[in-house]
Amino acid sequence: MARFIIGVICTLGLLAVAGSAYVYSGAFDVAASRPHGAFARWLLGTAMKRSVVARAAGVPEPPHFTAEMVMAGFRHYDEMCTDCHGGPGIEQSEIGRGLNPRPPDLARAVKDWTPRQLFWIIKHGVKMTGMPSFGVTHSDAQVWSIVAFIERLPKISAEQFRLMRQTMHQPENR
Ligand code: HEC
Repeated sequence: MARFIIGVICTLGLLAVAGSAYVYSGAFDVAASRPHGAFARWLLGTAMKRSVVARAAGVPEPPHFTAEMVMAGFRHYDEMCTDCHGGPGIEQSEIGRGLNPRPPDLARAVKDWTPRQLFWIIKHGVKMTGMPSFGVTHSDAQVWSIVAFIERLPKISAEQFRLMRQTMHQPENR
């Protein structure tokens, strides 16, 4: 038994030394210009999904989404999200294109999440990805309006998005 315990301790010690050597040698490639390997993609992707699912369970029920909320959400989206995520008829900016992981097209990605999970992601952000936490600067009501808008994204055409922008920029709506 004692030999077994010593064996386990030695193995753990060796793993710690090997891990530290890997980190300190600079072997890990932090370059955003090169994609993650398959293992890191699985690890980060699965950790993100499981973390959001677990934590969003504590988010209260969504409010009823009104047309005003959708329009308010559109303003926030247009100002804060299009650079990274693009939008209907809108290309990702140079910033969005250089990020790793690449910010997904939300018109497709929203289908993978419930409104409460979307609320959680937008409010808290995602560590080590570039997805900011908007809860630092926005109230819960504002975050819900963004959810109300992005839930509609799959149905919004480039033309509709352009018209919404025009409406927003009319002097009486500023
Ligand atoms: C600085 C760039 C950046 C900005 C600005 C940004 N995001 Fe993101 N977002 C990301 C990245 C990168 C990811 C990918 C995270 C990952 O792979 O885990 C992401 C992921 C997401 C996801 C999860 C989608 C999925 O299936 O992985 C949602 C929802 C989202 N963002 C919504 C928003 C909204 C809404 C805004 C504006 C209020 C916004 N983001 C602004 C970079 C950004």
